[in-house]
Amino acid sequence: MRHFLDLDLLNAETLGLILNAALKEKRERGFSKASALAGKSLALVFEKNSTRTRISFQAAMQQLGGQSFVLDAGTSQLGRGETIADTARVLSRYVDAIMLRTDEHDKLEDMARFASVPVINGLTDKSHPCQIMADLMTVQEHFGSLKDRRVVWLGDGNNVAVSWVQAAVAFGIPMTVSTPASMQIPQEVQDWLANQGGHQVSFSEDPGAVAGADVVIADTWVSMGDEADAEQRLATLAPYQVNEACMSKASASAVFLHCLPAHRGEEVTDGVIDGPQSLVFDEAENRMHIQKAILLWCFGLLDEA
Ligand code: CP
Repeated sequence: MRHFLDLDLLNAETLGLILNAALKEKRERGFSKASALAGKSLALVFEKNSTRTRISFQAAMQQLGGQSFVLDAGTSQLGRGETIADTARVLSRYVDAIMLRTDEHDKLEDMARFASVPVINGLTDKSHPCQIMADLMTVQEHFGSLKDRRVVWLGDGNNVAVSWVQAAVAFGIPMTVSTPASMQIPQEVQDWLANQGGHQVSFSEDPGAVAGADVVIADTWVSMGDEADAEQRLATLAPYQVNEACMSKASASAVFLHCLPAHRGEEVTDGVIDGPQSLVFDEAENRMHIQKAILLWCFGLLDEA
């Protein structure tokens, strides 16, 4: 069973295969695989809001000749307490793969445990691996390679930051995670990192860590579920805003990434996100291309890519 749950569960060879397939799919505008998933269907299960993840998966399935069905917690029995385990067992009788966006990572693991079809992580409170695959694709597409590109994360050590750290370890990418002391990536991920040999991931509380960066990344300061202490988060994170002064410290050829949705004027200014160094809309487009490659991998079809 090929689940796509977290980047640390897959080796660099597999991740590279998926990345290269996505780049190929994009170059060939999807025509090479137009019927690859004919007769296959994907359930998209959302316990949290989504624009990009939802539509990029639907477009990916449609372009590969398959179908998708959306199940929202608010309009299904999930929202009335039906368990993830029972949902997994039932959906497995109807569809060929399941994508889940949820809060607790344990729910994703339950979905994978009880499903008899591949399960894909569409975001949990812990991680967002599909997003970071699109980010890696965007960096590789822009620079021609991931090699020796220095990545700096600025802001909250959230689920997107965690998946970036896992990617940096897998590909040997030099990365600095710059967060306030109170918003570092979770201890369990730091413990995991401590056991990885030869990685180039470092941590800094100083937003000046952006100096010389090739890739500057920001994300919302108030993720879904963090709304209760929004005001305090905005105040604490203010020095980590990616603005024109911040970008001027990065490499002259640096690019800016943001998974979107952005809160303009908070973690990033209009001048940066709409400026010439921003790749955010390529990054958003690449969600669709990478979803295709992830789906093909889950269905065991990627070796033919
Ligand atoms: N970046 C991302 O996952 O976007 P959505 O929340 O719109 O799916």
